[in-house]
Amino acid sequence: MNKGNKIYEGKAKILYETDNPDQLIQYFKDDATAFNAAKRGTIDQKGVINNKISAKMFEFLQSQNIPNHYIKLLSDREMLVKRVEIVKIEVIIRNVAAGSLCRLLAFEEGARLSQPVLEFCYKEDKLGDPLINEDHVRALKLATDEEIATIKTYAHRVNELMTKFFKSLNIDLIDFKLEFGRYQGKIILADEISPDTCRLWEVGTQRKLDKDRFRRDLGNIEEAYQEVLARVSQ
Ligand code: TMP
Repeated sequence: MNKGNKIYEGKAKILYETDNPDQLIQYFKDDATAFNAAKRGTIDQKGVINNKISAKMFEFLQSQNIPNHYIKLLSDREMLVKRVEIVKIEVIIRNVAAGSLCRLLAFEEGARLSQPVLEFCYKEDKLGDPLINEDHVRALKLATDEEIATIKTYAHRVNELMTKFFKSLNIDLIDFKLEFGRYQGKIILADEISPDTCRLWEVGTQRKLDKDRFRRDLGNIEEAYQEVLARVSQ
């Protein structure tokens, strides 16, 4: 697989063209940012670990009939993916209050929500990825009504599947962020699924095994990411 032109570089990943116009190489960096890049750093080996964890999660979700962009691993830091047109919405599902929900609505961190809470954010760095609702999605023409319905159905199903999956590894899925894309006229899951994009707490100890260790300077970041990789590889 020949690596062609770089077509996009984000905070954590780079996308390269390939010989096939329908496929891209997704390269995972060690760079880490938080609070809309106000905080920057690197996490040793993060790119390697997140590439492998994402591959596992996409393989699992594919086996459960959630279509996604993953094709195969190419190297330690690279996976081959379907080339999608990304929907400019970050879809967040929360099972337990943490992070921005605590700041926004004064929930206590760790409070279990009476039902999963789905949020949309407008994926626009210069606006700081603001929280939006479905009317904003329509007004901004980010997705059609049919696409919104599909995205919500997939997001809730992913929550059910990943909650069970992580529970079997003694990990509580607190919340996570998904991104979707359009491929051959259909909505499929894209981007990554990793400790950068999920909050994962060890059952019992509530030890944080995710990017909050970086956001909040809790230390032992690489160890936490390795721990998640070891468990999803079981
Ligand atoms: P939040 O509590 O900061 O809004 O984050 C909710 C979830 O979404 C959490 O698992 C981290 C993830 N997330 C991202 O993947 N990218 C982002 O840019 C943000 C803000 C959150």
